[in-house]
Amino acid sequence: MKTPLKLAVQKSGRLSDASLNLIKECGITFPTRIAKLKAHAFNFPMEFLYLRDDDIPGYVADNVSDVGIVGENVLLEKGVNLEVIERLGFSKCRLSIAVPKEFEYHGVQSLQGLNIATSYPNILGKYLEKQGITAAIHEISGSVEIAPSIGLAEAVCDIVSTGITLVSNGLVEVETILESQAVLVSRPDLESEKRQVLEQLLFRIRSVQTANNSKYILLNAPNHSIEEITNMLPGMRSPTVLPLAQEGWSSLHSVVKEDDFWEVIERLRGAGAEGILVIPIEKMIL
Ligand code: PRP
Ligand code: ZN
Repeated sequence: MKTPLKLAVQKSGRLSDASLNLIKECGITFPTRIAKLKAHAFNFPMEFLYLRDDDIPGYVADNVSDVGIVGENVLLEKGVNLEVIERLGFSKCRLSIAVPKEFEYHGVQSLQGLNIATSYPNILGKYLEKQGITAAIHEISGSVEIAPSIGLAEAVCDIVSTGITLVSNGLVEVETILESQAVLVSRPDLESEKRQVLEQLLFRIRSVQTANNSKYILLNAPNHSIEEITNMLPGMRSPTVLPLAQEGWSSLHSVVKEDDFWEVIERLRGAGAEGILVIPIEKMIL
């Protein structure tokens, strides 16, 4: 058995479920009760470390963990030197400046001289400096959204995902500083044996991601449309075409990208396709 690759994941919160779900989709099984700090995967040379997201970059940098799944917001705030191996496409959020809805905001200049509460002093500091704004940054570790109502600050800089937290605290978003999502990070100096395990993991992650972004599509079409439809649905190499029992008709099987889906469906119908079935794909190896 290879030396296990240590992967740090968030114990609970924004990234936790999606991170563990991705690992499961990669066919890696592990104890489901996160009662301990550490757990071994049952069928893959990997060990999990369940940590607070804010601690993950530091633990990876300090060799406690080899790789980690963390938000770009946390990574950037900590400013540690790690290699971003892959952007994972989940836990999307943004870091924004918000003010009470009564505030008369006329662009970044309105932030001049204010007190701004945040858990992201480094990112905010750099942003304000770039904008040529001088403001007092008050670092607080949580519940940033209540700072204006208790008189601690006139503005906040915080993570926004659905926007519910802002609305329910009477705040409006005025500037977006950073768009963030979950990333897989690694120490830059990973030993070759661990790098091999990481490559294996990455291969699986990419197969899952490609599959999630694609659908298997089956349809019936008159034979004279097959060429036209083949051009619309190139699939992995080319579509499978099977004759139907009914003379002059065929069944076409292919793969379509989730993003192009609705547009392609319209065009397929225009070309005479019918009985269109669209099925999720679990894994996809290109
Ligand atoms: C962030 C932020 C808000 C909330 C915004 O906290 O501080 O409280 O999420 O999300 P919404 O726009 O969907 O309402 P987070 O969950 O990251 O917790 P943490 O700051 O304790 O890590
Ligand atoms: Zn956090």
